[in-house]
Amino acid sequence: MTVGVVVLSRLPGDAVERLRAEHEVRYRDEDSPVPVRDLPVLLSGAEAVVVTLGHRVDDAFLDAAGPGLKVISNVAVGYDNIDVEACRARGVLVTNTPGVLTDATADIAFALVLMATRRLGEAERGVRSGRPWGFGMFHLLGTSVQGKVIGIVGPGAIGLATARRARAFGMSVLLWGRSEPDPAAVAALEAEVVGFEELLERSDVMSVHVPLSAATRHLVDAEALARMKPGSFLVNTARGPVVDEAALVDALESGHLAGAGLDVFEEEPRVHPGLLAREDVALLPHIGSATIETRTAMAGLAADNVLAVLGGRGPITPVR
Ligand code: GLV
Repeated sequence: MTVGVVVLSRLPGDAVERLRAEHEVRYRDEDSPVPVRDLPVLLSGAEAVVVTLGHRVDDAFLDAAGPGLKVISNVAVGYDNIDVEACRARGVLVTNTPGVLTDATADIAFALVLMATRRLGEAERGVRSGRPWGFGMFHLLGTSVQGKVIGIVGPGAIGLATARRARAFGMSVLLWGRSEPDPAAVAALEAEVVGFEELLERSDVMSVHVPLSAATRHLVDAEALARMKPGSFLVNTARGPVVDEAALVDALESGHLAGAGLDVFEEEPRVHPGLLAREDVALLPHIGSATIETRTAMAGLAADNVLAVLGGRGPITPVR
């Protein structure tokens, strides 16, 4: 029996209602990812499945859904949780939610730039824990961003939006990516497009925005970290495994890097104990897109992709 649409996690807004208006929907109104053992019962007969990042879509997942599956709609812009090749081999379309989360994620990226450079996590923890303090000329001195250089690794929509925020704070911008950034955006930012090594060497703050793939896993490894400017900062709002976390801990411990701001981790929700122990690292629990407006728009776009595919109109935002 086909069920039409399976929604594996609780979604904000009217996305589920809109799916229900046109299709039979099996809605799992819960936040935690589905245990793998429950997938066969939940997925069997699905034509479309709406998934969130905690779900790994692999051959076992696709087997559980069966041959009627037409589309996997990911409620995220990144889709490293999905084996796109396995989907393609079975003729299953994959969609994601680009665009609607650009500003929210860039806001968090620049918040992390400020948290790391101005030692905001350490300052807040100090006040909250009752650590003695009083205004002092040398108390919690940070580093100004004005007049400094931000290096954007991955100048896609979120990287460029982060660069715009950095410009507004008086920073100059270096860009490096695997594909050429839009020339109009480069001109508007008065940015320089440079090689990866030059970006590492010249950036006071490096902000990572590349998707996770075989080519970008540990792109920021011990060698790259060693090339970074002494006293610089690293921010990552993309995917944890793009940065070698153990090497990052070493670079902080040696004093080569002055600090880091991370919204993503190699083995979420686990955080490297070497990071947890450090005052010079700001740590957030993968909340780049976590505003009610943004998450509602993401859920809406994920639903629209399902409605478009099942309605025979083709996906709105397909993963190529
Ligand atoms: C969040 O990390 C996303 O990829 O949307």
